[in-house]
Amino acid sequence: MATIRLGDIAPDFTADSSAGMINLYDYIGDGWGILFSHPADFTPVCTTELGTAAKFKDDFEKRNVKMLALSVDGAASHAEWIKDINETQNTTVNFPIIADEDKKVSDLYDMIHPNANSTLTVRSVYIIGPDKTVKLIITYPASTGRNFHELLRVIDSLQLTANHKVATPANWKPGDDVVISPAITTEDAKGIFTKGVEEVKPYLRMTPQPNI
Ligand code: BEZ
Repeated sequence: MATIRLGDIAPDFTADSSAGMINLYDYIGDGWGILFSHPADFTPVCTTELGTAAKFKDDFEKRNVKMLALSVDGAASHAEWIKDINETQNTTVNFPIIADEDKKVSDLYDMIHPNANSTLTVRSVYIIGPDKTVKLIITYPASTGRNFHELLRVIDSLQLTANHKVATPANWKPGDDVVISPAITTEDAKGIFTKGVEEVKPYLRMTPQPNI
């Protein structure tokens, strides 16, 4: 079993899915990826999550993020379940679901937490950057469905902070002011962040979001 931490190279894999064989790196290409696991097919919370994820596909695409779900059931089961998801969630599942019956990918990504459940994956989220390193890991229990607005929000933060010397404060949402990186002096910051620098404390400097 692997332990994956932030900054690690996301392990590549080739696996069967609801859309046929998929290689992770080929699938993501030069963009970003989100890999998210579900405990099992034909379960209620997972059904709502995958339906919701399908409705958010345009939002992920706008951010150049490819979506890839996973559960430890087979491709034939996924195909039947997708019909239920489409019917009950009033959507069309429009991204692949990895069929991980042999738990190869789940083990690779440490998605089975034996003290929570010895056979089913928890709700793991891995966000992978264009450099194939892991930018974010979130883990939810089976009993709690994820908030896809939060996943988009965190992607917005990751993409902003990848390109600008800023960080995003608590409860930040796109358009809000951001924190200037502690590595930059206030004097330098004034030259870089031309929209303005507010020095609340020497270590807490705010500026309007630079990329809008
Ligand atoms: C669900 O998706 O509803 C679920 C799956 C496994 C355990 C509990 C809930």
